[in-house]
Amino acid sequence: MPQKFIGVLTAGGDCPGLNAAIRAVGKAAHSYGMDVVGFLDGFRGLVENRIVHLEMNKLSGILTLGGTILGTSRDKVHRMPVGSMGTMDMTALAVENYNRLHLDALVCMGGAGTQKNAYRLLKNGLNIITLPKTIDNDVACTDVTFGFDTAMTIAAEAIDRLHTTADSHHRIIAVEIMGHNTGWLALGAGIAGGADVILIPEIPYNIESVAEALLRRSRQGKRFSIVAVAEGALSQEEAAELAEKDASNQVGPEEAAGSRTVRIAQSLQELTGLETRVTVLGHLQRGGTPTPADRLLATRLGTKCVEFIHQGLSGIMVAVKGEECVPVELGKVAGNLKRVPLDHPWVQSARLVGTCFGD
Ligand code: F6P
Repeated sequence: MPQKFIGVLTAGGDCPGLNAAIRAVGKAAHSYGMDVVGFLDGFRGLVENRIVHLEMNKLSGILTLGGTILGTSRDKVHRMPVGSMGTMDMTALAVENYNRLHLDALVCMGGAGTQKNAYRLLKNGLNIITLPKTIDNDVACTDVTFGFDTAMTIAAEAIDRLHTTADSHHRIIAVEIMGHNTGWLALGAGIAGGADVILIPEIPYNIESVAEALLRRSRQGKRFSIVAVAEGALSQEEAAELAEKDASNQVGPEEAAGSRTVRIAQSLQELTGLETRVTVLGHLQRGGTPTPADRLLATRLGTKCVEFIHQGLSGIMVAVKGEECVPVELGKVAGNLKRVPLDHPWVQSARLVGTCFGD
């Protein structure tokens, strides 16, 4: 039987663990006698046929490396910016390049957006397998995504450090945490870091309730507070406005990083009379070495992906279900977002240790 030839690309925002996953796919492919080629800079590399052959020597020494050796971009095949010509649908070219290389499968590593873009290619006849990667942990049909643990670790450590300075100066510190339109990262890091208030998009806040919780702490003799703000956090008024506009697909308004948290901090200072500062963690949360948990997860997902390709599966995302990595239909993943359920055990635990969600 002729050996299989597979392509790999990384798309969307980068995250720690991508290189571990590329290494896992590459090394497992070589174990099965398959050849592997990487496309550079996400879907753009597929359209422009920019490739790198992933021989064994290219896969060594990258397990612990942050970022992605393949580069990434947020470019979409069906709406790709093309110089001064605006955007163009480059699907035909992507399909042509895939066929010209005689690929047996294309592995797309990405978050919610990438799952949608990969699904479009599947519908255009490509054998697609995806892996769930993002610091946001918002990909549907998987327990977890790789990159999340590292970002949560970084954000929790930041909260730890903010505690001591907030304590010394008797301040409120509002710390903005990424996560796009879901609150997984702020919730996980907020709980792990012992934030006093956690604001997430799924639980719209009332600023007066938040201020009251902070004043209550003050009256109890606590001279500082940490407020973990998900970048997509919404007030109850904002959430109601959005729900009116589009009840089916609630997403927060696009705002410059930090501006929302600055607004929240200003209101809290006015309402409480307590000195308040803002820290925006930003892309620090996506940089550097992946945690051992993310290296392990990326390796499990990457190797399982190759096992599935070997078995002839396509049109799937390799998902985490408990201890297992399982195939789920890409059609069930694409276009869906995994939000924090209001009764999620993390939310319940946070409430039981006295965390305020501002609701
Ligand atoms: O999806 C990952 C993520 O880091 C989000 O948390 C954040 O909203 C977004 O990407 C930032 O994107 P960019 O790096 O393109 O500014």
